[in-house]
Amino acid sequence: MVPLVDLAATAQLGAAIADNLREGDVVALSGELGAGKTALARAVIAGLGHRGEVPSPSFAIIELYELPDVRLPLVHADFFRLADPREAREIGLDDYRDGAALIAEWPENAGGFADEPACLSIRLELADEGRIAIVEGGPDWLSRMPWQ
Ligand SMILES: Nc1ncnc2c1ncn2[C@@H]1O[C@H](COP(=O)(O)OP(=O)(O)OP(=O)(O)O)[C@@H](O)[C@H]1O
Ligand SMILES: [Mg+2]
Repeated sequence: MVPLVDLAATAQLGAAIADNLREGDVVALSGELGAGKTALARAVIAGLGHRGEVPSPSFAIIELYELPDVRLPLVHADFFRLADPREAREIGLDDYRDGAALIAEWPENAGGFADEPACLSIRLELADEGRIAIVEGGPDWLSRMPWQ
């Protein structure tokens, strides 16, 4: 469990994730509406080198970040609006993921990613003014979770 007492703490966790992120990884962010998923995604994307806006993909479903803007190509997805996990395939998720890492909000709506060894699952919950993050890494993450 990682306490995220404010947005600065979220930024710190996001930077640590970015430092350890590799091609093929998934960062699966679950939690209620307003739990802080996009805030943590923004922190990871900033940690990969992106400067400027990070629009929430809640409408577009997928936003792409490419070299040289970021050090590793990244897909930021928000599956809230998917009615069926098969739609993730139909929108071409596998092609977007090729050579990139994925940050997924509402991952359960896309069928979930926790069966992938390179999935870092993070559940965000409200706690007082801030949040807590319950982090579970798949086998590929076990040696690269310095925040634990
Ligand atoms: N660690 C934190 N401490 C305090 N406030 C936070 C923290 N993380 C996020 N917030 C605030 O919570 C609000 C909602 O955050 P965010 O948009 O990231 O939620 P979300 O989980 O992506 O929601 P949605 O499901 O609607 O996409 C924002 O105003 C954000 O600044
Ligand atoms: Mg969001």
